[in-house]
Amino acid sequence: MEKKFKRTLVTTALPYANGPVHIGHLAGVYVPADIYTRFLRLRGEDVVMIGGSDEHGVPITIKAQNEGVTPQDIVDRYHAIIKDSMEELGVSFDIYSRTTSDIHAETASEFFRRLYDNGHFVEKTSMQLYDEKANQFLADRYVTGECPHCHYDRAYGDQCEKCGSSLNATDLINPKSAITGNTPVLKETKHWYLPLDRWETPLSEWILEGHKEWKTNVYGQCKSWIDLGLQPRAVSRDLDWGVPVPVEGAEGKVLYVWFDAPIGYISNTKELLPDSWETYWKDPETRIINFIGKDNIVFHCIIFPAMLMAYGDNYQLPDNVPANEFLNLEGDKISTSRNWAIWLHEYLRDFPGKQDVLRYVLTANAPETKDNDFTWRDFQSRNNSELVAILGNFVNRAMVLTHKYFDGKVPAATDMQPVDTQVFDELKTIAGALTANLETFHFREALKEAMNIARLGNKYLQETEPWKVAKTDMTRVATILNVALQICANIAVAFEPFLPFMSGKLAGMLGMKNLTWDMLGSDNLLSPGVQLAQPELLFEKIEDDAIQAQLDRLDRIREENKRKSWRPEPQMADVPFEDFTKVDIRVGTILECNKVPKADKLLQFLIDDGMEQRTIVSGIAKYYNPEDLVGKQICFVANFAPRKLKGVLSQGMILSAQNPDGSLVVIGPTGAVTPGAKVG
Ligand code: 2FM
Ligand code: ZN
Repeated sequence: MEKKFKRTLVTTALPYANGPVHIGHLAGVYVPADIYTRFLRLRGEDVVMIGGSDEHGVPITIKAQNEGVTPQDIVDRYHAIIKDSMEELGVSFDIYSRTTSDIHAETASEFFRRLYDNGHFVEKTSMQLYDEKANQFLADRYVTGECPHCHYDRAYGDQCEKCGSSLNATDLINPKSAITGNTPVLKETKHWYLPLDRWETPLSEWILEGHKEWKTNVYGQCKSWIDLGLQPRAVSRDLDWGVPVPVEGAEGKVLYVWFDAPIGYISNTKELLPDSWETYWKDPETRIINFIGKDNIVFHCIIFPAMLMAYGDNYQLPDNVPANEFLNLEGDKISTSRNWAIWLHEYLRDFPGKQDVLRYVLTANAPETKDNDFTWRDFQSRNNSELVAILGNFVNRAMVLTHKYFDGKVPAATDMQPVDTQVFDELKTIAGALTANLETFHFREALKEAMNIARLGNKYLQETEPWKVAKTDMTRVATILNVALQICANIAVAFEPFLPFMSGKLAGMLGMKNLTWDMLGSDNLLSPGVQLAQPELLFEKIEDDAIQAQLDRLDRIREENKRKSWRPEPQMADVPFEDFTKVDIRVGTILECNKVPKADKLLQFLIDDGMEQRTIVSGIAKYYNPEDLVGKQICFVANFAPRKLKGVLSQGMILSAQNPDGSLVVIGPTGAVTPGAKVG
């Protein structure tokens, strides 16, 4: 028997305020959470949706330092961008607050203090890297050095971005402080740890026994953490940005960001509902749902629940944590630091009024069970061939025909036939499937079902052909259009959670007010005689040039990232001088230069080498016009064994250097040199 709840608390992962939000955040967390919350609201349920910015943590301090501003400046900037852009996308938070608020500092501080007072922490000292010049301990992210696994020379203390290994800063070879560039020293420091091992049994009973219905990715991750054995986790850090550790002798230490962030859900609820917040957290008849991405599973399913159990006072644990996998962009992992993302505020600027298109594509392609890829071509095609061609087209036909034959008044259905009742039967089946999918967090499937209503409408008009029947039987046309308009009204209801802007516009055109979920499946949402507004298009085609502009932007970012990550190749092993003298490098003057027929890459040179003339073939055709090179001096290897390239015998090799983008530049003397002179 399913437990009956009185209310639902929906939480959404608090995004770090060190950058704007991108489509990965939206697809993983905010769009699904918003769909779910809107669905519950339409059902008339008591639900609150909590959001806010996560404004602590090391990446924010690093960004501030790089820009020469304070961490508060950084979070003020991004909190505003995130809040405004989510609002514009229609993410309907009941509150979107922040973890730098006073109420949060008080709540998090009190939470820590109670756990501390009740003996729920263990204190441990450990050796950590310390920058003696900056007089501070270094968070793992603040240390760079050589990866002990792949020997990449710019690995971070917590992770090597080249080989993906998780690291401890103390593992790095030749560590350097990111603040001063100094070599850090090891110094003793004290921290508080939450002994998760003490909570292993209740966590295992609660999740592994009690929540077998959770998504397999979530359940599986929890099981493997628990099976591996839970370890104590440090909940404080040596840092000057965060909620201070409220214990004597803890100067210079703050709560670890992952300790205070989930408490942000509680403080934001308190801020929203100062008088009744406790009901949403402590009444067993409240259902708590955490919407998160897969990288947050351990924090929401293991660590935060352990914190809540330790706190006691009847705090409720989440009923479900429908975590999503990741969304990639054009085949590559989304990355804030590499600017490989579609930022929401930029999307809203580039595609004004197209909030629902993004919501649609991100839901249709949501990474619910596996990582998925966002591509601009798919975005265009889903808009043009689904939203425009199926949904917009059906509604437009029904509206236009009603205006044409009945002056825009809803006609009466006085001639119902089996084809009509069958449509309503199918509509009811779809409505049932749609509801079931929403209840179980299957939003992709739910959206498909909603689209099936529009498909059903198109099929119905195709079968009944009111434009033909109009020549003979207007009573029948009235019935057909009544049915079609009832389907439109169902669309307005069904899509409200997914595409709220379209739904609002459509409801306005149909004169519908106060949509509720129990309207869904009804054949009687619009009364005969009601005047409809003039039809407006619900969606418009997205042209190739808008998509190409986005693809060009991504190409530019790819190039820039290539340039930034370029490093000279490591120096080769020493060679004895005699080995070098075996290579006969000379200066020559280019007498002639031509493209090699049927070989895109090759140029054929005739070189004055001071002795006679020689032919050399070189693969630089992409980078030079042959005529520009004639008369120039170059360096070439004269004693390179001759070889045939595309039928031409090449007697040597012209020296060139390669840029990060792959382009080749020919190497020559900087002043005039007599051809044949040796280089060495
Ligand atoms: O991964 C993140 O982006 C974190 N800022 C999520 C925090 S969720 C919650 F605990 F606040
Ligand atoms: Zn590595």
